[in-house]
Formats: sequence, structure tokens, C-alpha cells
Amino acid sequence: MAEDYGPVYGSKNSEIGIPSIGYLDWYVPRLEEKRPHNLSFSGMQYDWDVKNIMKDSIYQVANQHLGNLRDPRVNISIREKIDINRIVICNGATQGLHIALCAALAKNENKNVTIAVESPCYAPLVQSPQLFNHHVININRRQPENNHGFWRIDKQQWLEAIRKCAILMISPILNPSGWDYHPEDRNWIVDTCKKNDVIIIADEVYSDSKRNHEDYVPFHQLGDNCISINSLTKIYSLGTLRFGWIIASPQIAEQARRAFITLGGIMGSPTLRIADSVFPHLDNVLHKVEEYRQKNLPLLRSLLEKFNITWNEPPYGIFGSFRLPYGINSMKFIDDECKEYGVLLVPCNMFDDGFDDWVRIAWSIEPKLFQEAVINLEKALNLAISKKTSE
Ligand SMILES: Cc1ncc(COP(=O)(O)O)c(C=O)c1O
Repeated sequence: MAEDYGPVYGSKNSEIGIPSIGYLDWYVPRLEEKRPHNLSFSGMQYDWDVKNIMKDSIYQVANQHLGNLRDPRVNISIREKIDINRIVICNGATQGLHIALCAALAKNENKNVTIAVESPCYAPLVQSPQLFNHHVININRRQPENNHGFWRIDKQQWLEAIRKCAILMISPILNPSGWDYHPEDRNWIVDTCKKNDVIIIADEVYSDSKRNHEDYVPFHQLGDNCISINSLTKIYSLGTLRFGWIIASPQIAEQARRAFITLGGIMGSPTLRIADSVFPHLDNVLHKVEEYRQKNLPLLRSLLEKFNITWNEPPYGIFGSFRLPYGINSMKFIDDECKEYGVLLVPCNMFDDGFDDWVRIAWSIEPKLFQEAVINLEKALNLAISKKTSE
């Protein structure tokens, strides 16, 4: 059952065609149930007052709407303190993955290259290269044995993969664990890829939750072979805008710009205008992220303590994951006991095999709502455990 929903590795083949993004088949119908206690979000839930902060209107979309809007890269260039020629705007991070791939492959002589993708991950990372008939291999970041601290890479496995591949695709803050790389692993990955002429594509949609952390190092700072992808979706709560960006060396960025025009044409002007208006306010959301951590996490900690569940809390971000007690199956738990109490979580087998009894939980909602959700999660856990122990 689990494999049906997780990322599909390998190569596209004529039998299955383009593999589906299985986790959406699972997730969307459950989201549509509108369970009142939603702990499943992978993004911040921030109440933007767009109407109030908009500088101008987005209503005349049928006319020449772009007008005198300034270059959308300026905001990112200022925020990231980088040259504007290193930036390409796109329709969200998911499209950014395709564009970064096209750019990374632009100067590659081989028609069919191997691409290594880190697991667990967001399925489009694994499945995008297959759209172009490239072969994808899997490398892992593993949970710590005592479930405490960083998830680490197996350097031997990674070295073998890096020697075989032209591109490495990673997501530094791992979905679903919420942990970033150990700094030693990050440096080793960058050095080893440089030595082996491998381009790194880093999906950094969660990394801004660490912006004010001393160890915040986006990959675009680490060398010409590194591409960072980010968007307003997750940390900034504006997925509906479809506003993302890529930061790369000027050479790769130029290829990415051409790829974007080929794949996407231009950005929608309402999106550009709203993005331009919200950029000066992005730090307000980062403060909210910290506020929600401070208010919500103590409730989660004490709930898990009651059930003797080990909790490997990431020191940044908006979600983490834990293992259910008594081998309770997470998909069954979410569809039975959680549903009974109106709670929604995400089963971790959406991201990799071997996580059948793990769930991802987010603390990105308003503290009053979080408190109610935790009360109901406790009820769901009690029910599932009592069923399990009376079996
Ligand atoms: C790692 C990762 N990257 C990208 C996305 C989607 O980003 P966007 O909405 O900017 O395409 C998600 C959404 O779940 C994700 O988990």
C-alpha cells in the first residue's frame, strides 16, 4: 500500500507513462474533508492582509497590466544580498525544479544522464527528471539511531552515487523530519560534488525558517555548481501566488532564464504585483514562525511525553515527525481514530519507504487552534492505543 503513494524512482517507461504524484492522490481528498484540527500543513498559516498592503490594483488584468512594475528580481537581490543576474523568477519551486534541471543540463553533452535524488523527499524532485527521460537513483539521509539530533548521510553510498551522476537534487530541510544537514555533511557534499563536476539543485522552500539561525547557509552561497530554489509558498504562506525563484551562477541563471521563457513564457502580472507588495513584510511571517514555535511546541512536547513517544524536535521550522507507539499504522490511524476526532496529520510513507508507523505534525497554526488540535490528537492516540492493546 505504502509504495503507491511515495515518490517513484527509476525511469519513465512506456507501460506506466508519467508516474502520478501519489501523495496528492492521498492528501487532496483528506484536505477536502475539512477536518477542524489540521496538523498536516507543510507551510505556515499566516493571515496576510493583502488588500491593505497592496500598492496598486490587480483588477485591470485584461488591459496592459504590467505597466511600470519594477523588475521582480530586485526584491530578492536586496533580501539575499546578491547580484540580480544570478536570479530567475518562476511559478513556484516546483516549476523551479524543472527549470533548474534544464539549466543544469544545458551544457551537458550526454543525452541521458543519471540524476541522484535524496530521499525522503517531495515526490516532484524524484519524478521531474523522469519527464525528460533521465534516470533517477536514490540516496538517503537516515534517521539517527537513538532518534536524537541530525539525520545524517551515508558518505559511502553518496560517493558512489555522485561518481555516477551529473546532477544531485536535495532538500536541505528534510520533509518530513524537519532537520537540516549536519554542517559537516553539507560541506562534504559540496566539496565532493565540486571534485566530481556535479551540479547541486537544492530545494530550499523550508530553509527561510532558519534565516535568523547562526547556521543558515543557502546553497547558492557555496559555489558555482550550486543552485538554490525557493518560493513564497511554505514559510511565507503564499502558495496560491505561485511565485518562486532560482539563484545560481550568472552562467547557469542565464540558461534558467531561457528555460523559464520556453516553459512558462512570462509571469502573471497579478502575481508579480502582489509579490512586490508583500516582500517588505516577509520578516513579519518569520516572527510569527518563532511565536508559534514558542507557544505551540511546549504543548506538543508534553503530549508526546504522556505517551512516552521519543520526539526529535528540529531546532527551526514548522513541522517534525514522530513514530507512533505499538507499531500503529499511520495511514490507518489518520483515517480511523484521527478522523473520528477531526484531526489531520500526514503519514510519512508519502516521502519514503520504511515509515509506515511515522506521522508528520505541523505547529504552523494559530496557538488557540493548535491547543484544540492537540487535545483531540490525544483522544485519537488514546483510542488507537486502547484498540491495539486489547487486540
Ligand atoms: C520540498 C518541497 N518543495 C516544493 C514544494 C512546493 O513548492 P511550490 O508551491 O513553491 O511549488 C513542496 C510542497 O509540499 C515541498 O515539500
